[in-house]
Amino acid sequence: MKLNGKNVRPIWLDEVVNVVKVIDQRRLPHEFVVADLKTVDDVIRAIKEMVVRGAPLIGVAAAYGVFLAAVNSLKNTFRDDYLIKECNRIKSARPTAVNLTWAVDKVLSEVLKTDNAIEAIDVARHHAETIAEAEAKNCRKIGEHGLPIIEEIIRDKKDKSINLLTHCNAGWLACIEYGTATAPIYAACEKGIDVHVWVDETRPLNQGARLTAWELGKYGVRHTVITDNAGGHLMQHGMVDMVIVGTDRTSRTGDVANKIGTYLKALAAWDNNIPFYVALPSSTFDWNIADGIMEIPIEERDPEEIRYVEGISTRGVIKRVLIPPEKSPAANFAFDVTPARFVTGLITERGVCKATEQDIKRLFPEKNK
Ligand code: MRU
Repeated sequence: MKLNGKNVRPIWLDEVVNVVKVIDQRRLPHEFVVADLKTVDDVIRAIKEMVVRGAPLIGVAAAYGVFLAAVNSLKNTFRDDYLIKECNRIKSARPTAVNLTWAVDKVLSEVLKTDNAIEAIDVARHHAETIAEAEAKNCRKIGEHGLPIIEEIIRDKKDKSINLLTHCNAGWLACIEYGTATAPIYAACEKGIDVHVWVDETRPLNQGARLTAWELGKYGVRHTVITDNAGGHLMQHGMVDMVIVGTDRTSRTGDVANKIGTYLKALAAWDNNIPFYVALPSSTFDWNIADGIMEIPIEERDPEEIRYVEGISTRGVIKRVLIPPEKSPAANFAFDVTPARFVTGLITERGVCKATEQDIKRLFPEKNK
């Protein structure tokens, strides 16, 4: 996406020195810092600590992790064993986004077909780059398929503007280009549609307030940051026309895991008859899972993320402050699962479908066993 006139992605490779460059998302919106990932350990740390985050980007970062493992395996006698071990370490960095395992397995399976270390590095780089390009293209397609939904909602409205609500950050920072949930928003803006986005702040790490608001602001999209609990009230008062979110893992039956709090938005949307759409590339489907609530692993993160909040003081100093009483325990469930019955539709790179196994497989017939 264009940032101050320059094309920027959240991740890229400096091929001269074999260093993966990432925008450090922990520092936004108040600081723009690029971090270097040189080893598998750097990649694992970046994923765990959410320097990089969001399902498609986690996948791409992990794919580059396999490339770095191949670079380092040059010095290793047992190349395949070493690579497989390193890949397993990468896969265990975070549990919920299925793109992580998907991308690692995809690159590793190609690398294991090679017969020397130099070829392995080339193949790993090629496939990591291919995944990054494919995700960018998928997001563009998601925008194209999501746009008619927005246009149809507007057709029925008197004021010809649309109020969308989104949760967390499923924008270009999370997805290479355009974003998943934000792609139809950008497509609508490009068509001259008057779009306004309610941005859930998304506690505890505030990806909405920090990242989505920053992205939309940079692109000139009208938006308002709201507390996570405001959405239901806005829906009851006709101030939301459509909810659109991303997902970290969606079962083949259409159950959607996304940032904690998404389920409550879906319930409120259901009660108020507001369409609730989920935008995702095919890499975020978990074809092995039928029951999202029982089977999708939900990450529990460090409670310190809830106890402390970071922001910038009026003097321009980044500060971390404690919210609850010093001794109060906290529990940090990072995702929840919205059952398919509350999802109006899934917007994928191949088109829009209902959140049912049958309709998902209409778009992805190759997944029919
Ligand atoms: O914990 P995060 O920030 O990696 O969570 C991922 C998300 O931003 C969302 O849940 C998002 O909506 C899906 S990823 C495009």
